[in-house]
Amino acid sequence: MLIAVDGPVAAGKGAIAGALARRFKLPHLNTGLHYRAVARQVLLNGGNVDDEDDAFDACDFPIELLSEPHLISELIADLASHVAVFPAVRQALFEREWAFAHRRGGAVLEGRDIGTVIAPDADLKFYVTAEPAIRIRHRFEALMEAEYPIELREVAAELTARDKRDRERAQAPLRAASDAIVLDTSQLMRRDAVTAAIDAAEG
Ligand code: CDP
Repeated sequence: MLIAVDGPVAAGKGAIAGALARRFKLPHLNTGLHYRAVARQVLLNGGNVDDEDDAFDACDFPIELLSEPHLISELIADLASHVAVFPAVRQALFEREWAFAHRRGGAVLEGRDIGTVIAPDADLKFYVTAEPAIRIRHRFEALMEAEYPIELREVAAELTARDKRDRERAQAPLRAASDAIVLDTSQLMRRDAVTAAIDAAEG
């Protein structure tokens, strides 16, 4: 079974994708980490995230970078959305992500373009969303928990700018696949959102 979980910042994709992977014993890939790693590698290379060549050169980041603690920062998330506008970057990551998605036995992939670009053939697609104020609060609380120093208004500004960049880019803009199940988690506790996704998957 191949499952796609897409949606904007901090709507609950990670909890849902993780729970689906455990429930169906499938490998799980958070593709956002790839974009974050490219952004981080651009910084390590002394490059510019708004330069397509610098961003493309960073696509061969070492695999160990994916577990680097810096990747959780909102600065890196913001820079990730800059490198994500470039077709050359998306193509380089497409190859890795397509291979993960189409391995024998299935997978759960989470991101922005899984149901639309990486795996339009997925057996099941979710588009997880929530009202911006709720997503801002979720992200702020998650960063507090990780002891990442940031203020609520900075999270609000970053999330709003990133949502806009992700929705307005020319290639693979964030949107729900036409055959996705839309799950609005605004009024749901995390546990209930996860249960709703598993119920939908079990049909
Ligand atoms: O965790 P959060 O939703 O804040 O972000 P993420 O999933 O780590 O993704 C960081 C950024 O990478 C997003 O804002 C997108 O610009 C980009 N991204 C993308 O373009 N396509 C994906 N499949 C995943 C992430």
